[in-house]
Amino acid sequence: MLPIGPYALKNRFILAPMAGVSEMPFRTIAFEQGAALCPTELVSAQGLFRINTRTLRYLRFNAKVERPYSLQIFGGEPEVMAQAAVIGKQHGAQIIDLNMGCPVKKVTKSGAGSALMCDPPRAGLLVKLIREATGLPVTAKIRSGWDSTNRNFLEMADALGKEGVAALAVHPRTRAQGYSGKADWSVIASLKRHVGNAFPIIGNGDVKTVEDATRMLETTGCDYVMIGRGALGNPWLFRELLGGPKPTREERATLVLRHFREHLAFVAHERVSREKLSPEEEAQRAERAAVHNFRKHLAWYAHGLAGASHFRNLVNRLDTKAEVESAVEQFFLGAERDVHAPPEEYDVDYRTALG
Ligand SMILES: Cc1cc2nc3c(=O)[nH]c(=O)nc-3n(C[C@H](O)[C@H](O)[C@H](O)COP(=O)(O)O)c2cc1C
Repeated sequence: MLPIGPYALKNRFILAPMAGVSEMPFRTIAFEQGAALCPTELVSAQGLFRINTRTLRYLRFNAKVERPYSLQIFGGEPEVMAQAAVIGKQHGAQIIDLNMGCPVKKVTKSGAGSALMCDPPRAGLLVKLIREATGLPVTAKIRSGWDSTNRNFLEMADALGKEGVAALAVHPRTRAQGYSGKADWSVIASLKRHVGNAFPIIGNGDVKTVEDATRMLETTGCDYVMIGRGALGNPWLFRELLGGPKPTREERATLVLRHFREHLAFVAHERVSREKLSPEEEAQRAERAAVHNFRKHLAWYAHGLAGASHFRNLVNRLDTKAEVESAVEQFFLGAERDVHAPPEEYDVDYRTALG
C-alpha cells in the first residue's frame, strides 16, 4: 500500500471531508470504527491567516485518536494559503489537504475550491509553497474538471505531481454537475493508470457499501477509497469494511448517545457569543443550538430502521438535551432494521455540500 508522505495508513478506507459533519466528534468516531484517515471539513485559509477566533476553533482535534491529523484548507492566494498552513501546523496538523473541488460560488469567485481546476499552474504553486513553508505532506482533492468540456483531471495530476503532491483524491463529477448523476469511476481508473505509483490516488464518489468499496478498488486500481455520504449515520461502515459486523441495537443506541454528548460539549466549547448573556442563558442557547445542529445526524442514524420517518418528525421538535436523550434511548434500543426500507436517500442540504 502506498504511504501518504511519511504515513503508512492502517488500511485503505478514508472518511471524506464534509462541512458540518467531519467535526472532531464524528472524525473521532470514524477513526475508532476503523477509518485510516479523516480530514477535517474545509477551513478558510483567509480566516486562519487573519487569526480569526471562529476559524481557529475548527482546528481542534483529538490528538489521542486522530493520527495522522489532516487539515483541509481552502483559498486561492498562494501566500495566504502557505501562511494558513503554517498556522495549521502550529496547531497540530500533520497533513495539509487542499480543497480544489468546492463548487460553491462564494468560494470559486475568489479563485478557490474548484476554480483551481481552471488554473493548474496556480494549483501546483500552492503545493510547492505549502510544502516549502511547512515541510508537511500536502494532498489535494479535485473534481474531474470544471465542466464537461474541461475535464482536465490528468493535467491537474501532472501539475500537482510535479510539485510533489503526497496523494490526490478525486470526486469524479465536474463542478457543473454538482452532485447530480453518477460519479464516473473511469476517471479514477485513468488517473491511476496515468500516475502509476508516483503518488497514491484516492477514489471517491457513491460508495455506500462494502461491495461498492471492493468494486471501486478492483475496477479502478485506486490506492484508497474515500467515503462521504455512505458514512452519514453509519460510521460502522468502516468496521464492516474491515470484516466486522453491523451494529447491534445496543451499540447503535450507545454510539448515538455518545456522539450527541460529545457534539454538545464540542459546540459549547466552540461557541463564540456575540451578546452579553448570563452563564445560564449562554448554556441554554448553546444546548439548543447543538440539539438543532444534531437533528440531521439523528435522521441519518435512523435510516433503514422501522419507524424512521415517525422518529424524524419527532426529532424536528426536540430542543433540549434531556428530550434528545430520552428519544434516542426509546427509539434506537427498540428499532429493528426495516427490510422494506426504501434505498438510502441522504437528506443532505447540497448548498452546504462543499466538495
Ligand atoms: C454535507 C457535505 C459536505 C461536504 N463538504 C466538503 C468539504 O468541506 N470539503 C470537500 O473537499 N468536500 C466536501 N464534500 C464532498 C465530499 O467530500 C465527497 O467528495 C462527495 O460527497 C462525494 O462522495 P460520496 O458519494 O462518498 O458522498 C461534502 C459533501 C457533503 C455531502
